[in-house]
Amino acid sequence: MTREVHLLAFGNTRSAGPWRHPDIDSSTDAVRRRLIDHARTAEAATFDAVFFADGLNFGPPATWPYKTTEDFEPFTTAGALSSVTERVGLVLTGSATLQHPYHLARQLSSLDHLSAGRIGWNLVTSFAQAAADNFSTDGVVEHDERYRIAEEAIDVVKKLWDSWAAGAIVADRESGIFHDVSKIHVPDHHGTYFDVKGPIGAARSPQGQPVIFQAGSSDTGSLFAARHAEVIFTGQGNRGRAQRFYQRIHDEAARQGRPVAPLITPSLWYLVGSTEEEARRVEQTAYEYFSPEYQAGWLLEVDVDVTGADLDGPVPASAFPDHTETHQTALAGYRALATEGNPTVREFLFRTVAGWGAQVVGTPEQIADQIEDWFTSRAADGFVLKDPGLPGQFETFTEQVVPVLRKRGLFRHEYRGTTLRDHLGLDVPPNRNEITA
Ligand SMILES: Cc1cc2nc3c(=O)[nH]c(=O)nc-3n(C[C@H](O)[C@H](O)[C@H](O)COP(=O)(O)O)c2cc1C
Repeated sequence: MTREVHLLAFGNTRSAGPWRHPDIDSSTDAVRRRLIDHARTAEAATFDAVFFADGLNFGPPATWPYKTTEDFEPFTTAGALSSVTERVGLVLTGSATLQHPYHLARQLSSLDHLSAGRIGWNLVTSFAQAAADNFSTDGVVEHDERYRIAEEAIDVVKKLWDSWAAGAIVADRESGIFHDVSKIHVPDHHGTYFDVKGPIGAARSPQGQPVIFQAGSSDTGSLFAARHAEVIFTGQGNRGRAQRFYQRIHDEAARQGRPVAPLITPSLWYLVGSTEEEARRVEQTAYEYFSPEYQAGWLLEVDVDVTGADLDGPVPASAFPDHTETHQTALAGYRALATEGNPTVREFLFRTVAGWGAQVVGTPEQIADQIEDWFTSRAADGFVLKDPGLPGQFETFTEQVVPVLRKRGLFRHEYRGTTLRDHLGLDVPPNRNEITA
């Protein structure tokens, strides 16, 4: 089949938003309605999926008054949205280091059943102290150790997902026998971090296994992603870097004997206007309404501290530590953003709204050009789109950019299947308990 662009959209609509804009209602009920509208808009435009990020914490200290309330918890959000949508995928973040693999396996499998096969798991290794503080831990686990925990967690989760082989349910009314017990495999896992007997209490889900998404970009993280991810999220500031990352992942996946390399979908922060002039106006509006104070508080999570600095002065070098055990890729990315072109603290903070990933401001054609350029030059297989949270931007993307991509033969006109695996062109993984030598 011809290669096609995959499009995902950040589903979190509140935390990204410039909430001071007069047309944005920040009430909890408005957030609920916006989540539903957003997922339905993505579905009407045949997006692969909406994605719910999560950090298992409130963010900066609760005394920081600029922090907006978070969106809702992602597992329950995906459950609710699965009943008001039919085709669009729902990718949700679950921590392999802070959430127990038994819960993860069970909840994700259950959601995959409830959504008829539309769930993806964004597997993260939680880096924030504020998250560790919520889980009776001794603090944030050291970076590479987090990946060792994740290795074992994903192994346990997959064993649980595979614990029911095909044909396990016989439901023989006459004999009263419901299960063929020879088809139910008890993982009985005993490892370094987890002891989990299993099995889970439900048959294998429609996708066999929910799709695994991962975003490790450090050396250890990208090895983990190349080994386990079916789709990789990443932040890449320019095409050259993205191409090198793409190649590195493909080489590593091949070295590990994977027959199909993971799909790579960098984040793309966009601002769209019908004309270049309008796009610049939208950018001005985004700049006007973004909250540098909010953003500064958020950066504390990755040990970047500009909280005391003059917003209109240069970024102090002391804002960046030499090393962090939190998020090494973010620290390097933000350091680069602070040095390119000597921005003021306010300008620097505005840049970080897009993380350290790609940004594009332009007309539908210009945005489609960038997507096409990265896609055809093997810098990306698709994108996870982050909109600035201004009213109407996501709708404009779906109404004006998507048709351009379709006209160029880069994006589907309609869904061809019903599951997230169908949209992504991924096979159902074999069940380890059904493989015969
Ligand atoms: C597009 C994208 C989305 C991410 N979403 C989350 C998230 O929701 N929660 C989280 O804890 N980390 C998230 N991350 C961070 C990664 O999961 C990961 O922690 C990070 O890349 C650090 O890993 P590394 O040190 O191996 O690079 C995201 C990263 C990217 C690029």
